[in-house]
Amino acid sequence: MPDTLLVIEDERLLGAELCAGLAASGWDAVQAVDLAAAQRLLCERNLEPLVVLADMNLPDGNALDLLEQVRGRGIAGEWIFLTAYGGIPESVRALKLGAFDFLEKPCELERLQMVVAGAARSARAQRRLRDEARLRGDRYSPQAFIGHSPAALEVRDLLARLAQVPFSGLVITGETGTGKGLLARILHHSGPRAAGPLIEVNCAALPRDLMEAELFGHEAGAFTGAKGRRRGLIEQAHGGTLFLDELGELELDLQAKLLKAIEDRRIRRVGGERELEIDLQVIAATNQRIEQQVADGAFRADLYHRLAVFRLDVPTLRSRKQDLEDLLPVLIQEFNARSGHRVETIPAVVWGRLSAYDWPGNVRELRNLVERCVLLADGPVFPERWLHLDDATGAATGQPPGAVTEENRLCLPLDGSLSLDAMERTILSEVLLRNAENVSLTARVLGTTREKLRYRVQKYGLKVSD
Ligand SMILES: Nc1ncnc2c1ncn2[C@@H]1O[C@H](COP(=O)(O)OP(=O)(O)OP(=O)(O)O)[C@@H](O)[C@H]1O
Ligand SMILES: [Mg+2]
Repeated sequence: MPDTLLVIEDERLLGAELCAGLAASGWDAVQAVDLAAAQRLLCERNLEPLVVLADMNLPDGNALDLLEQVRGRGIAGEWIFLTAYGGIPESVRALKLGAFDFLEKPCELERLQMVVAGAARSARAQRRLRDEARLRGDRYSPQAFIGHSPAALEVRDLLARLAQVPFSGLVITGETGTGKGLLARILHHSGPRAAGPLIEVNCAALPRDLMEAELFGHEAGAFTGAKGRRRGLIEQAHGGTLFLDELGELELDLQAKLLKAIEDRRIRRVGGERELEIDLQVIAATNQRIEQQVADGAFRADLYHRLAVFRLDVPTLRSRKQDLEDLLPVLIQEFNARSGHRVETIPAVVWGRLSAYDWPGNVRELRNLVERCVLLADGPVFPERWLHLDDATGAATGQPPGAVTEENRLCLPLDGSLSLDAMERTILSEVLLRNAENVSLTARVLGTTREKLRYRVQKYGLKVSD
């Protein structure tokens, strides 16, 4: 479909000529002979032109007034002004309003086409960004947290309230897989900072020395290996939201530095002299153990209280099993769409088993189960065969289907029947088993720290001996 271009020109002949020239190069060119006509097209008929080519002085006023009005209504599109006597004061105002360019009349068609093409490129890029932001906004509205149980309603109600207030810190607690990450995204995208960046940091993902440079950035040569200057994640979150996932895993001295940065609203890059101002909101996610960590002195109380201005406790799936009725169809639809399958009916026996199950991995576990069942389904019926909900402790025991162990090897299926999480869980439980469930030994074998291993052991509900 050709893109629309609006020509606002009172000299009818010139306007018609411009329209014809632009139509020849693929535009759907529309002409308006005065501001009133242009305003009707833009504001009432939603013409949404990609580019507007406007004479500056029209019989019923100045085109800049219309541009100002249009921008005030959030109508996008690039504007190019044609002017015979475009004085400096007017061009300054035009630039402030975000005009794309000026052309002196008379203007050769070839030059005009070039400027119009540039404006179209710019307008398309802006349109794409806006569409994406709108899509994200829909995907991460409070409605994205699915469920009709009182607990889910309460979460959504709180989300809607929190989206209205410019909070500086917020802590989300909840078991693994309950939707803490999802809630952080909803809070960012439906709040006042939605137009700013959302920067996610997993505090368990990196060793301490890398983490500091990652968070605060560094200057060139700040330490061995620091080649160029690098903006840290905190700096990148300026104007938006910093999402600290697994907050409890942050090392104590970094906790102190982070607290200082939040209180002073300034940071200094590693090896840097200058202080940089930062303006951001912090959302932190953690499991409930953090209060125990604070009590034990393993987590700084001052940082915790600074962040926990607001708290959001996400309910477990087992405490709101009636939400399976909402979650299941949505998830089935999602994986149907991805796989081209058309699972439509859920047998009573499947419902029965799903509602009797305890869901230690919460919604993530449900999601993985639905993914597996939809991918492996042969027809429109949700297959009971692939549920693999073996016993009361649920996924916490046993090996997933397809995984085979022999001697010092573990073989995992790559046919889509196992999610990455399930693979990680399988690897961990296997290595733990081989090392008599000893955390230190297992951590050594896997080249990780005891803390990181403990975190994952808890996340997947695995058994350890000490
Ligand atoms: N109420 C819900 N409605 C829809 N999807 C949900 C809901 N809760 C969780 N999910 C989905 O479940 C999956 C797991 O959620 P998420 O990653 O946010 O959990 P988490 O609490 O951050 O877990 P972890 O502590 O392991 O990081 C995601 O795909 C998320 O979109
Ligand atoms: Mg998470």
